[in-house]
Amino acid sequence: MSFRKSDWLEAGKIALETLENLGGVFLISNDKESLRPNVMTIGWLELGIVWRRPIITVLVRPSRHTFSLLEENPFFVVGVPPSSWKKEIDFCGSTSGREVDKFSQCGFNPVNINDFPVPVIEGCEVAFGCEIIQKTRVEAGNFIASILDEFYPQDDYHSIYFGEIKESWSRG
Ligand SMILES: Cc1cc2nc3c(=O)[nH]c(=O)nc-3n(C[C@H](O)[C@H](O)[C@H](O)COP(=O)(O)O)c2cc1C
Repeated sequence: MSFRKSDWLEAGKIALETLENLGGVFLISNDKESLRPNVMTIGWLELGIVWRRPIITVLVRPSRHTFSLLEENPFFVVGVPPSSWKKEIDFCGSTSGREVDKFSQCGFNPVNINDFPVPVIEGCEVAFGCEIIQKTRVEAGNFIASILDEFYPQDDYHSIYFGEIKESWSRG
């Protein structure tokens, strides 16, 4: 199965619909040394235009293995699975790449497209190759109280990564 280049806006619509229906998509990053990929589920993603560039923004808590990988390597892929992949979304959202090789546990086949340094998962409907061009952290003092109480009882504040979409692909 192969991927072809796709318009980022068209692919973006599919990504947002999948987030709405399935509740999550995949965030794939690479270990800088071993080049082994890791995948985690993300339920939050923004997609739009900033600094005159197409951007995907993801929020990752510092406790995630993915956080360490993104701090070391500025490239990531967002992969959007078919809506039938609920089990895989749950698994990749509840186990850590620190303990488990999720690619092999899920039987995911990593597909490298062109020279992009992070692979896509075979079978995804669409995917985006991104480069982090800005990162920041949510600040406790800038929230309204209800968000703080609901999402940060343990002060595990997300880092926010702005990834410029360098390439987008769709299956086929
Ligand atoms: C539906 C769903 C959505 C999630 N969304 C996020 C998210 O946006 N950001 C985040 O930091 N963790 C999110 N998580 C939790 C991570 O996917 C989970 O902690 C995962 O095990 C981290 O993997 P890693 O340690 O290999 O990076 C989500 C989990 C699920 C099930």
